[in-house]
Amino acid sequence: MSRIRTVGVLTSGGDAPGMNAAIRAVTRAGIYNGFNIKGIYRGWDGLINGEIRDFTTENVSGIIMMGGTILKTARSNEFMKPEGRKKAYENMQKEGIDALVVIGGNGSLTGARVFAEEYDVCCIGLPGTIDNDLYGTDSTIGYDTTMNTIMECVDRIRDTAQSHERIFFIEVMGRDAGFLAQNSAIASGAEAAIIPEDSTDVDQLARFMKRGIRKSKKSCIVIVSESKKCGALYYADRVKKEFPDYDVRVSILGHLQRGGRPTAHDRVLAARTGVGAIEAILQGQRNVMVGVRYNEVVYVPFNEAIRSDKPFDKKLIKVLDELSI
Ligand code: F6P
Repeated sequence: MSRIRTVGVLTSGGDAPGMNAAIRAVTRAGIYNGFNIKGIYRGWDGLINGEIRDFTTENVSGIIMMGGTILKTARSNEFMKPEGRKKAYENMQKEGIDALVVIGGNGSLTGARVFAEEYDVCCIGLPGTIDNDLYGTDSTIGYDTTMNTIMECVDRIRDTAQSHERIFFIEVMGRDAGFLAQNSAIASGAEAAIIPEDSTDVDQLARFMKRGIRKSKKSCIVIVSESKKCGALYYADRVKKEFPDYDVRVSILGHLQRGGRPTAHDRVLAARTGVGAIEAILQGQRNVMVGVRYNEVVYVPFNEAIRSDKPFDKKLIKVLDELSI
């Protein structure tokens, strides 16, 4: 294996708060350890189209507190095709890039795994997604910020829900995972969460209604994970039909959940995993995602990281059930 001199960094897939802190960490730790750093714009598309610039420490000054990603991002269709990956590899060679640090979620790290296998290149992943659905890391960069954003939104919606004595169904992101829904429901004192990890054969809404939807409260909040095939509108309609005298409203939080200044937790996670990525390269590691588990930086092979069955602590369901009486 030839010595690695130049490291390319890119962000891919949905942006997540803390991605800029991660770009900064990779760039600074890379330069500190003697590597040349190149910023690749617009994710895998930028590698295919040669949108690449030399990075100095100045390129990443003043960005630690910014949401989004200064490198821009994309969901690349081209990179899914062998011809696209060939162009990406040719550009890597042309630019003298020996290793890549890919900051992104499940889809982006799946792309990194395929590329690394196909062209025998060193790819290191950082878990950058609000969904928290990557295996082997307790949390992903962006998840904590989004949790806090949802919590603030629900606090506000509760003010109006209580004033009007209404039932609100609030839909949150998370793709196929219910981490955001369940934990934000606990954090905001919601009355219920409807998530994919709860037993699929049980109608979660029926179970919740059986408990007595308005036994002790006049208003109530139900958080619905977008991953459920039927979203918040469907559940609201059902309640309206069964209880026509209930005043029901829906709020879909949408992309506002992805923006904003990253929390301290996400900035520290980005810093630790960014430094960990450069350390991985120095150690000769390849094709791993850098995560933090039990407060230790860990290296998780891509195959593991992108598994679809990240453990969901079922006790969280009990916690919400007991506290929402
Ligand atoms: O993966 C992050 C995420 O925000 C998911 O929670 C959501 O399902 C998806 O991206 C939305 O993607 P887009 O911004 O492309 O609509």
